[in-house]
Amino acid sequence: MRLKNKTAVITGSANGIGLAAAKKFAREGCRVIMADFDESKGATEAQALRDAGGNASFYQVDTADRESVNTLAEKVMKEHGGVDILVNNAGITRDSLMSKLTVEDFQKVLDVNLTGVFHCTQAFLPALVKSGKGKIINTASASGLFGNVGQTNYAASKAAVIGMTKTWAKEFGSKGINVNAVAPGVIETEMTAKIPDKVKAQMNALIPLGRFGKAEDAANAYLFLASEESDYINGIVLQVDGGIMM
Ligand code: NAI
Repeated sequence: MRLKNKTAVITGSANGIGLAAAKKFAREGCRVIMADFDESKGATEAQALRDAGGNASFYQVDTADRESVNTLAEKVMKEHGGVDILVNNAGITRDSLMSKLTVEDFQKVLDVNLTGVFHCTQAFLPALVKSGKGKIINTASASGLFGNVGQTNYAASKAAVIGMTKTWAKEFGSKGINVNAVAPGVIETEMTAKIPDKVKAQMNALIPLGRFGKAEDAANAYLFLASEESDYINGIVLQVDGGIMM
């Protein structure tokens, strides 16, 4: 059991990569706090995890909303007493070519993907410091490293997450907290289901391993960075992308 007696908050864990991580963490003996906007799916998935013998609780949250995040942190601290691991996984896309991108879609993506990560980290930082061996995992993206056509807002938000990750690795290292990012390439989830088949074929051609990733591929990286196996790793961006050449 790689996360025995640990408590992890995973945002965006009602679906996709976050859900795969919640399942993996629970199997490794972790108390999993599933925090997501999607209340019905999140509550159902948490129940399914409990039915399978895992320790999981669901909390509804909008990570872009400061009050909502603060309320989540208060409830989690009251009901679980502490947090050892924070996975800032919640994220959205509102893709558009730059020439057509609206201010609203630019701002919305920054609110969730960037400001949401800031809110959650600040809210759980005292608990992570108290744990004495905290881990923060931020979800970036290949887009944040290389850019991507149609993703001005998304690439900007994920590049900023990488900047925050490296800054926090320096700021929190002395407090016993490791801060790292995972940068998935193309992973098969709801987020990428809407990409047209023609574009998918073009993207696939850029991946030396010749396939898109599965949610579990990215969740494996979260698990590694949450476990003791990564205790001397701090400030990295772990690419999970099959070697994509964007
Ligand atoms: P998904 O769309 O399957 O799941 C995202 C989850 O986040 C959903 O359950 C949604 O309800 C939740 N969420 C969205 N906004 C929220 C908010 N304001 N507050 C709380 N929860 C919120 O997406 P997927 O693919 O699992 O993505 C997870 C992370 O991985 C995201 O940060 C995404 O940007 C990143 N990523 C995904 C890639 C992919 O190819 N799927 C590639 C690179 C990065």
